[in-house]
Amino acid sequence: MQIEELNMDSVIPAVESGVRSSATLPIHVRHVGREALQAALMSGREQLLALFDGFESALGRDGLRIGFDPVLNLPLWELGHIGWFEEYWLSRNPDRQRGVACDPGASRAASALPDADKLYDSSNVLHAQRWVLDLPGVEATRGYLAEVRESTLCLLHDSGESDGELYFFRLVLLHEDMHREAWHFMAQHLGVDLGLAMVGRAPKPIGAHGEWLVAGGVHALGYDGGGFAFDNEMRAHPVALDEYSIDRAPVSWSRFLPFIRSGGYETENLWTAAGWAWRRRQERTHPVHVRPTERGWQQRRFGEWVALDPDTPALHLSAHEAEAWCRWAGRRLPSEAEWEAAALQAAGQNEPFEWGDVWEWTASPFVPYAGFAPHPYRDYSQPWFDGRPVLRGGSFATAQHMKHPRYRNFFAADRTDVFAGFRSCTLMQGQSPLSDGGLSSAL
Ligand SMILES: [Fe+2]
Repeated sequence: MQIEELNMDSVIPAVESGVRSSATLPIHVRHVGREALQAALMSGREQLLALFDGFESALGRDGLRIGFDPVLNLPLWELGHIGWFEEYWLSRNPDRQRGVACDPGASRAASALPDADKLYDSSNVLHAQRWVLDLPGVEATRGYLAEVRESTLCLLHDSGESDGELYFFRLVLLHEDMHREAWHFMAQHLGVDLGLAMVGRAPKPIGAHGEWLVAGGVHALGYDGGGFAFDNEMRAHPVALDEYSIDRAPVSWSRFLPFIRSGGYETENLWTAAGWAWRRRQERTHPVHVRPTERGWQQRRFGEWVALDPDTPALHLSAHEAEAWCRWAGRRLPSEAEWEAAALQAAGQNEPFEWGDVWEWTASPFVPYAGFAPHPYRDYSQPWFDGRPVLRGGSFATAQHMKHPRYRNFFAADRTDVFAGFRSCTLMQGQSPLSDGGLSSAL
């Protein structure tokens, strides 16, 4: 079936932005104009610099040179990289006004910082190499960011309002949002608190319980809503879904803990082969950042051990742990198409369907949609179509204006530093716990 045969708006209610069902719908950055973009850029930057101050206070300036870890970046490198990305795609980019049609290879104007490309181009500076670079100091890096931002705001002031002209401003904002969230992952991993600038510290207790039986039908998977979109969300295409029953909220600790107590971490047949190999590499027989004590379970939040709230979503889980729980519970992960269709339909029908406090692993591998074409920032999606799973939703540390029911996140299955949990679906007749109902039935 060709996509043109379907009227997408008649398939799914045209609710393109929403967190926690239809309660409060924030204006999504994908559609905002110059004025709101400027405000978002300014408040995001204020928060970023305050978070960096948080790292400095917690670790000391010398402590900023944290040891190498594959899931971390040096905070000072990351700060400089954020400025470099902004300058590279905006003030240095002669083709910026063409948005997604921009030639990514167009020759660039010089950077305000000598050797910036050699230091901060994430496509060319290997991860481990970032630890041995001779980076500019904190003041020089902050100065570079300030200089770049001044140029950016001048360009924005003079920019037109079309989606093409605003494309790179929106991308730069979202890129910085992502790094800000990564700093929250890093703070949790290092066990440090970054102070008042943190977007959040923990997911809220779950308010919606039970499951929702979602009618089958054709879902238009992918983004077709105008404004800004990431390349991996395009194009929207029809996917046939059978009826399915999905949790109204992510799986809570009160549902996850019995899996641990019943020996789930010692039972090989509950795990996939890759999952069991991962499990055997861990010393723990429970998720990271929680521990059993004589007074019950505790969880570690940014260096502080507190009583675990059983009503909050289970957190810091790898995809392997999510899959093992599903096998133990006789359930399965939703496909990304099921997740997306449920989130959009819930918003349109005022059904309780909570999301946005933890990223949620899905059963779907991160693959390009039909007709995928990389956007100018070539390395955003393309290098990561390697079989890793898609996550949907967003976390308590994700910028509110970034959360979108069509957004696809894509971490490696063994990551536990991400604020990730999952929700589950009832097994229908003939389904296995690891089936991928949505994508396998794409029309
Ligand atoms: Fe980046």
